[in-house]
Amino acid sequence: MRSGNAPRIRKAVFPVAGLGTRFLPATKTVPKEMLPIVDRPLIQYAVDEAIAAGCDTLVFVTNRYKHAVADYFDKAYELEHRLENDGKHELLQRVRDVLPEHVRAVFVTQPEARGLGHAVLCAKPVIGDEPFAVLLPDDLIWNRNGPGALAQMADLAQHQGSSVIAVEPVPHEHTHRYGIVATAPFDGRHGLIGAIVEKPDPSVAPSNLAVVGRYVLEPRIFELLEHTQPGKGGEIQLTDAIAALLPERTVNAYRFAGTRFDCGTHIGLVEATIRFALDHEALSEPARQAMLKALAELGVQDPV
Ligand code: G1P
Repeated sequence: MRSGNAPRIRKAVFPVAGLGTRFLPATKTVPKEMLPIVDRPLIQYAVDEAIAAGCDTLVFVTNRYKHAVADYFDKAYELEHRLENDGKHELLQRVRDVLPEHVRAVFVTQPEARGLGHAVLCAKPVIGDEPFAVLLPDDLIWNRNGPGALAQMADLAQHQGSSVIAVEPVPHEHTHRYGIVATAPFDGRHGLIGAIVEKPDPSVAPSNLAVVGRYVLEPRIFELLEHTQPGKGGEIQLTDAIAALLPERTVNAYRFAGTRFDCGTHIGLVEATIRFALDHEALSEPARQAMLKALAELGVQDPV
């Protein structure tokens, strides 16, 4: 991408082929991306963020057993007809808002579970030769009063003509759970990435700045992914292809404005549920009462 003159991203990739074993038995039949936070599945939050950032083509990389995500974004004629006949217009609108009319969903199968890098590579025929986003729906990012994380990143990518990777600091002992970057000093919210390594042991981690699941990448990454050998865990890692991109192109780390909930973990999912319930128009007060009651029943005297 040329500096200052980069095209705006229009396409977003959602790798959703994982097995979600951490949430078994729930994920025996329900993909983890379909687990709800209040009344919307996790995938919807990521999709809304991508659309708000200007994307109109959503590429879901799934496996051949997972039909729920495709079914969810498909038009539900019978349901819509029924809601219309029953005069349930608000519900009907909510169902229709799942995917606005100007947005198209494309489904690509990842034939084998060979890692995140391989999943992204499967989207190559749909992306073609333009910059694009990758969103990992497990990472739910909430920016209550401002633009979503991807919109913030898309602005920076377009302005700087660079790839942009979302980061946030994590406790040093957690570096083995994330891609970790080393950067030049931050100018406001961003800094040039000098090194990136997948899930390093804390003893060798170059920093505590962790990659979270939002990327704006240029299409050169596909050629690099094609030559990326299996890395951590025997999988083709997106992180390793980004490391190969660093000597050639500008890649910025971006500390987004907003709160990330790690919904790939039980506590993250619970935390997100609490936060969204407390912020929900109709649920806010009953949710607060329910929480206070639960804490009182458990003998917690002084909830903060
Ligand atoms: C993936 C990436 C990792 C990144 C993380 C963010 O790991 O490989 O670099 O830090 O997402 O959520 P995963 O969580 O899929 O193991």
